[in-house]
Amino acid sequence: MSRALATARSVQGNRPSLRTLPAGLEAARLPVHVAVIMDGNGRWARQRNLPRVMGHREGVEALKRTLRLCSDWGIGALTAYAFSTENWNRPGEEVSFLMALFERVLALELAALEQEQVRIRFLGDLQQLPSGLQELIANAESRTAANTGIHFNVCTNYGGRRELVRAARALAEQVARGDLDPAAIDEQAFAAQLHTAGERDPDLLIRTSGEQRLSNFLLWQLAYAELHITDVLWPDFDEPALVQALLDYQSRQRRFGGVDSVTP
Ligand code: FPP
Repeated sequence: MSRALATARSVQGNRPSLRTLPAGLEAARLPVHVAVIMDGNGRWARQRNLPRVMGHREGVEALKRTLRLCSDWGIGALTAYAFSTENWNRPGEEVSFLMALFERVLALELAALEQEQVRIRFLGDLQQLPSGLQELIANAESRTAANTGIHFNVCTNYGGRRELVRAARALAEQVARGDLDPAAIDEQAFAAQLHTAGERDPDLLIRTSGEQRLSNFLLWQLAYAELHITDVLWPDFDEPALVQALLDYQSRQRRFGGVDSVTP
């Protein structure tokens, strides 16, 4: 966030200036939790004859932009799909670049996240990540744990199926130990075993670059999310693109399986 922060500082002090909600959006009907599949970094780079990894670098800028806008507009949580359990299959060079990028971004941005009251958490199987990155993650999570602003969840080495299996196993272990009656396993008990425990389910999923699939992202949590798919490539995702997604969301009638529109 450092570069954007430096340019967005208000003259009154250390706080960056807040962006006001654009006309046309209703503050009371904004999604509380937005999830995003940041797709199209490679294509963005290819279109410019750049190496794929330059797309990821620019993708970080788009993520920082999106986080700041969501925070300014009072959205409660942003959950981004940064690295899937399947992404290890990419060329080794690209994987190493991404791990180094996560480390660099965390080290550079932690102070800004702290100052802006962002609570950051990394969701996924973190033990497989390089140990330096794990340490940075643990430090960032603990330093921002008490922050009162937006919840920023970064899904890293995350897979929806793996998360569901892990939850089922945790419950089975409790049953095997005699600590849990199988009859007590309900949706709430299951959700409490997911990486997202304690977080409300996303109201809106945004996927960039036009692909129309979930790609193993938040399979349980997205059950009732509204989907917004845009052709914009992730590095180009900006304020007008986010406004478009929010307007699309506000045009929907959410019924959660019932017949009447519901305001959750
Ligand atoms: C998908 O585009 C994007 C990724 C796999 C990486 C996304 C990661 C970031 C933007 C960095 C986030 C950093 C932090 C610290 C949170 P793609 O490569 O699949 O694009 P393509 O489909 O065009 O090839």
